[in-house]
Amino acid sequence: MSELETIRVSAEKPYDVVTRVGALELLPELVGETERVALLYAPVLAERAKELAAGLSAQVTMIELPDAEAAKTADVLVQCWDKLAEDGFTRSDLLVAFGGGATTDLGGFVAASWLRGIRFVTLPSTVLGMVDAAVGGKTGINIAAGKNLVGAFQEPIGVLCDLSLLETLPADDLRAGLVEAIKCGFIADPVILDLVEEDPADALRWDSDRLAEIVRRGIAVKARVVSGDLKEATSQGATVGREQLNYGHTLAHAIEKLENYSWRHGEAVGVGMVYVAELARALGKIDDALADRHRTVLQAIGAPVSYAGDWADLRDAMSLDKKTRGSTLRFVILNGLGSPEICAGPDEQVLEDSYGCVV
Ligand code: GLY
Repeated sequence: MSELETIRVSAEKPYDVVTRVGALELLPELVGETERVALLYAPVLAERAKELAAGLSAQVTMIELPDAEAAKTADVLVQCWDKLAEDGFTRSDLLVAFGGGATTDLGGFVAASWLRGIRFVTLPSTVLGMVDAAVGGKTGINIAAGKNLVGAFQEPIGVLCDLSLLETLPADDLRAGLVEAIKCGFIADPVILDLVEEDPADALRWDSDRLAEIVRRGIAVKARVVSGDLKEATSQGATVGREQLNYGHTLAHAIEKLENYSWRHGEAVGVGMVYVAELARALGKIDDALADRHRTVLQAIGAPVSYAGDWADLRDAMSLDKKTRGSTLRFVILNGLGSPEICAGPDEQVLEDSYGCVV
């Protein structure tokens, strides 16, 4: 058994993230004596959701959500509230969110907002959901002006990552999720990079021990970071708190927006990491070997490393990034492997030239 099979997150109320084949069998234990459970699930998991419900002694309200980002809307949120009201959900009841990152984001926000907050459990079914979305208490929905602009910090009481769910995950989604784990490798745990580089094909196999180890290490990085700065409040000057999890995300969010969200999040994050590596190289923060490693590790798993967009459009879109303060653009960059820092208001020409290396 890997020592990272159970990882504790200790920000406010501590909870465990269990990552293994069969982790879903722990759900009845988390539900305990709870009277009512709302099980919110992605359509593709309908059968598994029924099986899960059958194993619970609580009264279960089944709520099938629209697929992926279509779940993260104000309309769906209201429909979920109406259903909880209809079935008499009280503060002692529990919500379970079962699906990818969008499902756990929406589910978490339903839980955070219903009666000003009820307990919830996340059951992520994708690599991205396991390594990022389901852990750390960021919940929310999208509005026309942008993704995740409305939300709340509310931590789950437990996270069960059942690796058997990855069997049916499309290969491109697994690859894109792996990019978020690679991000954790660059900001905090280089062993993740070694594991990918040693055998990239094995890292992409849903049932490999290597992928399980990479996912667990990615979760461990996230758990450490959010335990120290749940509400993204501790970055000071160049020192970076939870914002480090946004490594590569500033350009990524701009690409996603300009591409009308047709790119997978992880694919855009990969290009965004190559960009900030070029920025850090130009600023003399990292050497050529580390900058180049960004491209080679991503190329090894077949993830994109370039994007041919219009710089002016990208620059505009980046101004709306959540890390921006006033009109000062802020990036997470590395000043060495596993050592992130904030770069605030870099020279505009350096920004543009660095983009020239990514096109
Ligand atoms: N996905 C970035 C974070 O959870 O802070």
